[in-house]
Amino acid sequence: MRHLIDPTDLTIEEIDLLMNRALDIIAHPADYAEVCHGKKLATLFYEPSTRTRLSFTSAMMELGGQVLGFSDARSSSVSKGETVADTVRVVSCFADIIAMRHYKEGAPRVAADYSRIPIINAGDGGHSHPTQTLTDLLTIRRELGHFDHLTIGLCGDLKYGRTVHSLIKAMNRYEGTRFVLISPKELRLPDYMKQELEKGKQKNFIEVTTLEEAMPLVDVLYMTRVQQERFDDPMEYERLKDSFILDESKMALAKKNMIVLHPLPRVNEITIGVDNDPRAAYFRQVENGKFVRMALIYTLLQWKKENAVQADIHVKGNLLDAENDKQCCHNDRCISTTEPVRHLFYYDTDSVLRCYYCDHAV
Ligand code: NCD
Repeated sequence: MRHLIDPTDLTIEEIDLLMNRALDIIAHPADYAEVCHGKKLATLFYEPSTRTRLSFTSAMMELGGQVLGFSDARSSSVSKGETVADTVRVVSCFADIIAMRHYKEGAPRVAADYSRIPIINAGDGGHSHPTQTLTDLLTIRRELGHFDHLTIGLCGDLKYGRTVHSLIKAMNRYEGTRFVLISPKELRLPDYMKQELEKGKQKNFIEVTTLEEAMPLVDVLYMTRVQQERFDDPMEYERLKDSFILDESKMALAKKNMIVLHPLPRVNEITIGVDNDPRAAYFRQVENGKFVRMALIYTLLQWKKENAVQADIHVKGNLLDAENDKQCCHNDRCISTTEPVRHLFYYDTDSVLRCYYCDHAV
C-alpha cells in the first residue's frame, strides 16, 4: 500500500501526475466534488497546527468526503500512554486515510508500518513535511512554469525547519537546481541534509550570512520562521528569532520575476510592506496547499483500490536490525527512543548507517 511519509516516496513522474491533477481540480472543481463520497479522512494531530489541519479538512470536504480526528493529543488515549502503532491500528477501523502530525521524528513511518489504510505525514518534528513540499512545488509550477535550473534561496531556521528539509530533497532531483542557504551559524542545515546535497556531481549550494548577498541570485526565496518550539534554551531563541527580516528595501535587490514563498505562520521575518509586492506568493501558496492535498488524498485512495506498490526508488532498500541491545538511534527526537519499535537501520548511498525512522546517522 502507498503512503506519503517522505517527498522522495514519490517519483518525479508521480509528482508530475499530482501537479497535473491539482491543476485539473483548479480548472474543473465540479468534476471532483463527489469523488470521495463515503470516504473518511482521520486527522491525527499530536502537535499544534491550524493551516495544515484545516487545509486537509477543507480538501477532503471539497472532494465530498468526511473528516474525523483530534487536534490535541491530550484529549485522546495518547494521554493514557497509547503507542502510535496501537492508535493507528484502531483508527484504521474507522477511517479510509490518515493525515498525521507528530512532534517525534519518524512517527508517521511507524504509523505506516502498522496501518491498514494510507498514511500521510503532515509534519514530524524537525524531520519532514512532504505535503508542504507538494504545496511549494505546485506554487513554483503555477508561478514560474517549471522546476529545472532554478536557484532556491532558503532563509531562516534551516536546522529545525522540516519544510526546508523536504523541499531540498524534492528540488535536488531536478536538473540544474542550485541552493543559497541563508541562516545564522547556529541554525545551519544539519549535516545529514548537507550530505544529501553533496551527493550531486557538482557542488550546488553556497552558504551566506546576509539576505542582501542572496537577493540578486534567487528565483525562489523560501522564508521560514525560527522554530521556537524546538529550542531547548529559550534565551537562544530570543537571540536568534529576528536574524533575517525581508522588507521592501531587500526586495528591491531581487530579480523582477522571482517569487517569495513562506510555509506560514509568519512571525517577524517578512514585513507586511512586502505583501503587496506581486512577487509575494505566500498567500497564493496557501490556496495551492488545499488543491494539492485534494489531488493527493484522491490519488492515494485510488492507488489503494488498485493495490499500487511503491516504486523502487527508496534508499532504504535493505533494512538491518540492531546488532545488539546497545545499538540505537541517538537522536532524542526520534520516535524509536519512546516507542517500543524494532531498531532498524539502513546504509545510504554513501555507506552511512542511518536510522530507518528519522534518517539521522547512527
Ligand atoms: C510549517 C510547519 O508546520 O512545519 N507550517 C505549516 O505546515 N503550515 C512551518 C512552521 O510551522 O513554521
